[in-house]
Amino acid sequence: MVRRILAEVKEYTLPSLLTPVCMVVEVAMEMLVPYLMASIIDKGVYAGNMNHIYKIGLFMVLAAIIGFIGGLFGGRFAAVASTGLARNLRKSMYDNIQTFSFSNIDKFSTSSLVTRLTTDVTNIQNAYQMGLRMAMRAPASLVVAMCMAFYINARIARIYLIAVLILGLFLVLIIISATKTFREAFPKYDALNESVQENVSAIRVVKAYVREDEQIGRFQKASRAIYDIFVKAEGKVVLNGPIMMLTVYTCILTISWVGARMISVGDLTTGELTSLLAYCMNILMSLMMLSMIFVMLTMSAASAERIVEVLDEETDLKNPENPVMEVKDGSVSFKGVSFAYNFDKGGKPVLVNINLDIKSGEVIGIMGATGSSKSTLVSLISRLYDVNEGSVSVGGVDVRDYDLETLRNSVSVVLQKNQLFSGTILDNLRWGKEDATEEECKKACEMACADEFISRMPDGYNTHIEQGGTNVSGGQKQRLCIARALLKNPKILILDDSTSAVDTATDAKIREAFRSHIPGVTKFIIAQRVSSISDADRIIVLDNGRVNGVGTHEELLKNNEIYREVYESQTGGSGDFDETEVD
Ligand SMILES: Nc1ncnc2c1ncn2[C@@H]1O[C@H](COP(=O)(O)OP(=O)(O)OP(=O)(O)O)[C@@H](O)[C@H]1O
Ligand SMILES: [Mg+2]
Repeated sequence: MVRRILAEVKEYTLPSLLTPVCMVVEVAMEMLVPYLMASIIDKGVYAGNMNHIYKIGLFMVLAAIIGFIGGLFGGRFAAVASTGLARNLRKSMYDNIQTFSFSNIDKFSTSSLVTRLTTDVTNIQNAYQMGLRMAMRAPASLVVAMCMAFYINARIARIYLIAVLILGLFLVLIIISATKTFREAFPKYDALNESVQENVSAIRVVKAYVREDEQIGRFQKASRAIYDIFVKAEGKVVLNGPIMMLTVYTCILTISWVGARMISVGDLTTGELTSLLAYCMNILMSLMMLSMIFVMLTMSAASAERIVEVLDEETDLKNPENPVMEVKDGSVSFKGVSFAYNFDKGGKPVLVNINLDIKSGEVIGIMGATGSSKSTLVSLISRLYDVNEGSVSVGGVDVRDYDLETLRNSVSVVLQKNQLFSGTILDNLRWGKEDATEEECKKACEMACADEFISRMPDGYNTHIEQGGTNVSGGQKQRLCIARALLKNPKILILDDSTSAVDTATDAKIREAFRSHIPGVTKFIIAQRVSSISDADRIIVLDNGRVNGVGTHEELLKNNEIYREVYESQTGGSGDFDETEVD
């Protein structure tokens, strides 16, 4: 896991290596100061040697400057390396998410992906920065200070050793208990982000249902959970401070007491005692730092795990080795197809033994109750999911043998949950074909009956669409999505409930335009309104994931009970469609 994360350091390897080097320079200089100080006191002050004071004083200034520069560059390199790591991690995760298939996406919730891309990466960034600077600095400073202390006076240095052991023991106890609490916090972040994301993106629904209070409550609960955990964890971490100070003061007192007695018998000089006291502070501070690094690292381990999960998630729709690069025609056939969402986790089949043969250029209507797997059936044609059993072929070739891009460019789907993006209408249309001319876009819009409302807008085709298409009506949005799909010049066009918000007259006009402009394209039209599909060449009636009947409008009226019932409920039994919307 650590290796996987560190692999993303890449071009930031040099600053990552330079940081510890700079930190060691800083520590070395810092450690020199108390030693020089002792020399000034003993050989300069007591001996009245001004020259020595100037000379060593100059060294001290030099040491301070070099230390300062080391610290400065160390900090800078660490910042460059850690933000670079964060950038690379985000990019790699983002790139991988783009390769996810629908079923990969089903596995992670959107909010969890967002937390992983933001909070978790920031955690790693902070831990890496701190790690680079302190992981070298703290142990180096601990070891050097300890050596210097032993060099100056081994007897007193032994006091440090005891202090280090005692303090170390306490720190370990505190850390173990604090990290356990910190780790509990991460799943809570998912809940918080979920609440924020769902709430903000669905703010209109929240308002329409007057659910603000409930949503505020939900947010506060999630936020409170994180607050509680952090208060608990920090409560443990702050114990570090008093324990550390207690040890430091005890140490200083003991050293002063032992040191004073040694000075009086001439075993120790005053200068040496001063530097020993400075090292004491250094040693204990380093220990404290080490403990903090440890907390950071264990905390970020949870984040690293969550990031690696996204990085290592492999798309389960892979391109075949020698993919077919051309779709011959728009014929589609289903042979013994069964499908279940989350098949490997024992999901229930939602399509069972489907056998269909559709000729190129046919218009196929699909009808069935909500949840009868209409959307699922058509999603298999453009290989949004892979079948579990049987096979789906397009143009006589199994969809799994095609290059995915080739297949999806030939099979244009207007999804049931369609989306527009922020940008102009033209930008949105060009999702269908990047280099489409304005003329082409206009033609597609005419076919989708979108031209009439676009030309009435003040900026026409350059009208700005807000994120998610909130400034166009439901029916307008559906027509734009149809136009976008038409621009692909597909061999197969799938409209999943795509005219549900369009009035019946316009709906009929769109179908008429399809008939006269793109007669060769195979069309699948999923609809709840019988009037939307009654003129199709054939209609498939789905019931609970099975084909209940296939035939023309007249045939089904005669011999399919489900179809007849739906038809009668919509026409009031009179045989004429009433012009109301049913969905
Ligand atoms: N991403 C998914 N993960 C798990 N189960 C799903 C998923 N999408 C759909 N299902 C389930 O599959 C079944 C068929 O759903 P599908 O969306 O195909 O129905 P539908 O006929 O299109 O319904 P509607 O008319 O409401 O659009 C339903 O029981 C649904 O709960
Ligand atoms: Mg559906």
